[in-house]
Amino acid sequence: MKIFSIAVVALTVALTLCPALAADPTASIPTEGKSNTLCPISGKPVNPAITMEYEKLTYSFADNDCRAKFKTSRESSLYQRLGGKAAIDASVEAFYVKVLADKRVNHFFEDINMNKQRRKQKEFLSAAFGGPIPWIGKDMRKAHANLPGLNETHFNAIAGHLKSTLEDLKVKKELIDEVMTIAGSVKDDVLNRPKAAR
Ligand code: HEM
Repeated sequence: MKIFSIAVVALTVALTLCPALAADPTASIPTEGKSNTLCPISGKPVNPAITMEYEKLTYSFADNDCRAKFKTSRESSLYQRLGGKAAIDASVEAFYVKVLADKRVNHFFEDINMNKQRRKQKEFLSAAFGGPIPWIGKDMRKAHANLPGLNETHFNAIAGHLKSTLEDLKVKKELIDEVMTIAGSVKDDVLNRPKAAR
């Protein structure tokens, strides 16, 4: 019992003194004018001299290897190939215009704060497409667990609106295919059914 108490005290002190040990997912995300304290690649405390600008935010890294890995991931990401934040934000705005005009699915959004919903969808899709900021909202199963009657027809309608939005915006077919594969990968979770065998 005594050993347990000592361990708890030691852990509390360590978490207080060392931010790297505290499980704060936002510590690896910079905000405007404020750099991140944990490296987005290694999770270790950053060296403030090792930085990179991306979409007007300054990311700091633990070392040069992490910086190089971050740079490569950004350059190869679907997120960047789609056009980054501006392109994804514009797509989500146009997507919800279609969703809210569609009688098959718009009743699901009747009591939903659509400003919040648009923001969350932008953040989720950005992360899912390999953007620099990880998704820290609900997982897709929990997010859709309280939508009675939600079924495959609804999912396909939503997915169809995502696809036609990107087509309207003249996104290349290969990129749309990648987006739709990612959208399809959350289908079982959104519909709260067991994951299909792969
Ligand atoms: C590709 C498929 C889908 C994706 C990527 C997606 C994504 C999301 C995200 C990111 C949220 C916010 C989660 C949070 O609060 O942290 C959300 C919530 C929601 N989604 Fe979806 N969704 C999908 C399919 C659907 C479908 C098919 C419907 C209904 C037709 C739907 C209706 C809703 C509603 C009503 C909410 C708000 C739930 C609440 O706040 O209680 N979604 N979705």
